[in-house]
Amino acid sequence: MASRYQEVYQSWIKDPSAFWAEAAKAIDWIKPPQKIFDPDMGVYGRWFPDGTLNTCYNAVDRHVKNGRAEQAALIYDSPVTGMKRTFTFAQLLAEVNAVAAVLKDFGVVKGDRVLLYMPMIPEAVIGVLACARIGAIHSVVFGGFAAKELATRINDSQPKVIITASCGIEPNRVVKYKPLLDEAIELAAVKPEKVLLLQRPQEKAEMIGGRDFDWGDMVVPALAEGRTVKPEEMAATDPLYILYTSGTTGVPKGVVRDNGGHAVALCWTMKNLYGIEPGEVFWAASDVGWVVGHSYILYGQLLYGATTVVYEGKPVGTPDAGAFWRMIEEYKIAALFTAPTAFRAVRKEDPNAEHVKKYDLTSLRTLFLAGERADPDTVAWAEKILGVPVIDHWWQTETGWAIAGNPIGLGALPVKHGSPTVAMPGYDVQIVDEGCHQVPAGKMGSIVVKLPLPPGCLPTLWKQDERMKESYLTEFPGYYKTADAGFIDEDNYLYIMGRTDDIINVAGHRLSTGGMEEVLASHPDVAECAVIGVKDELKGEQPCGFVVLKSGVTRSPIEIEKDLVKLVRDKIGPVAAFKIAITVNRLPKTRSGKILRGTMKKIADHDPWTMPATIDDPAIMDEIMAALQTKGF
Ligand code: COA
Ligand code: AMP
Repeated sequence: MASRYQEVYQSWIKDPSAFWAEAAKAIDWIKPPQKIFDPDMGVYGRWFPDGTLNTCYNAVDRHVKNGRAEQAALIYDSPVTGMKRTFTFAQLLAEVNAVAAVLKDFGVVKGDRVLLYMPMIPEAVIGVLACARIGAIHSVVFGGFAAKELATRINDSQPKVIITASCGIEPNRVVKYKPLLDEAIELAAVKPEKVLLLQRPQEKAEMIGGRDFDWGDMVVPALAEGRTVKPEEMAATDPLYILYTSGTTGVPKGVVRDNGGHAVALCWTMKNLYGIEPGEVFWAASDVGWVVGHSYILYGQLLYGATTVVYEGKPVGTPDAGAFWRMIEEYKIAALFTAPTAFRAVRKEDPNAEHVKKYDLTSLRTLFLAGERADPDTVAWAEKILGVPVIDHWWQTETGWAIAGNPIGLGALPVKHGSPTVAMPGYDVQIVDEGCHQVPAGKMGSIVVKLPLPPGCLPTLWKQDERMKESYLTEFPGYYKTADAGFIDEDNYLYIMGRTDDIINVAGHRLSTGGMEEVLASHPDVAECAVIGVKDELKGEQPCGFVVLKSGVTRSPIEIEKDLVKLVRDKIGPVAAFKIAITVNRLPKTRSGKILRGTMKKIADHDPWTMPATIDDPAIMDEIMAALQTKGF
């Protein structure tokens, strides 16, 4: 089928308001928006400023009303516990109502924040939808973050209630969430009033009287009584959630998502980008703590009347590299979405894809990849073993949906390995130089998006309009700075080559090297440090820290390096995957004192490099190379 992409993209260019007004018809509004975009509202304008709706109603209730009550809404499959369960839309509605009733009993009202620190269990989705129902702003924190990171998020979002579970389960250990949460609350300047805790059979958490409430004591009776809560009428522009993401410092950015634009944009993507029909199963093998999990585990499928999947397991080791294929066969999954890392992990374990032969994968039409650069080799391997289109698409926590992709629902464009294809309607993507001048096709530059951003993208950072402007809108006036670098080819295909800031991408997880440097610098023996992301065959990148010790330190560098690895794990969390600290005598710097991280990275990656003209002392580079060699680089 010839792609309708050009026609649809041009229709958006011609009249963005008409385009989004049409897309907005997919939503059941309480008050349909009369105005589609108000350029004078907010930091760069707001979408659907006079519309009102309830996101939970659109994700659950309306499907119950419209004949999907008995259709699967959510499939839970947990190879780490052996649990499986499918919730119909009717069951999901009852569960969401019960949690919403409990939150109301706790005194949570519209606009209050509720933080969720949850593993991949259905209660995470139910908790989030309950917040959306009553107009509470949820903030989900990924389970792999340590207490200090959690505390930072508590301080910033100031939740009235925290919803958690006694533990998460990693293949090699039970992660006790409650002690981490207790420590975080202890560290936080702002305390939640109540904690709602789900006791899992694998770990019984200690409860603090008066503050902690057992899910079994609160939600289970509310469900048995069939309690219901009317969905709150929300302005399209009211915040739905805050999702923290790594910034350039240790202080994460609270990305805000609104109700109206979010619902409209996600519904549009389900059909047009992913080619999914209501009633089909679309599985995003991510985590509810990341943006992919927010958009395509928590919301997209449900808003559209499709089936979502909560998978508590890994691509490999739970129990083997056939885990994805088992899921596809068992649940007749139409599309799978994951990070390239997951496929690299599968390929490492099962290079000849022997496991694929054991399963019936005929339901699978498309594989979608995002979260990090999809290396052509991995894409080619996935195409070969699955025999379906493998679609890379590029997005960010900030945008909430793909900036560039290959719109399967509009008819696929030819795939070019290494490119996430073309800009989606809503995004006018340009490549500019430092002076904000567009560069010719094929030339690398900063990737920017002409304002306004489309519905679904962040309107601002939580309570920080100024940081929003400084971080994204100031450097290239009139544009949103993606902080990715890349180029556009003659066919308008986009290529994303890497970040322009100190964000690195480890196993599809976005991490701040600046945040890690802050932790290393807090060690009493460290005088200065630099963290870079070095190439890693499996995870794409891995962090590597260089430290200079204070003069007079007598402890062995090896001991201190071990301390530093532990310190990052304790302060940021295991997800940082910080395993390499290297002691050096000096760090390479420019004459003005700027650490030459880029050159260090090239050396560690064995990429061609030249001695920077501005380097203070070229001899240091030999020391860096020698230090890297001792660590096997
Ligand atoms: N709670 C607690 N700890 C967690 C966690 C969670 N939710 N998720 C990960 N961790 C821990 C891991 O157990 C690991 O700990 P370890 O150092 O003790 O082994 C550490 O954090 C690093 O995790 P990760 O980088 O994911 O490595 P891994 O070896 O556990 O798994 C992959 C590697 C490739 C299998 C895994 O990263 C994966 O499935 N990636 C898919 C990509 C993805 O989900 N991307 C999200 C955006 S689409
Ligand atoms: P996150 O906010 O965690 O989704 O991370 C966003 C960053 O991940 C982007 O700015 C890119 O650097 C990177 N990224 C995400 N998807 C892709 C992709 N398809 N290709 C290249 N880089 C990607």
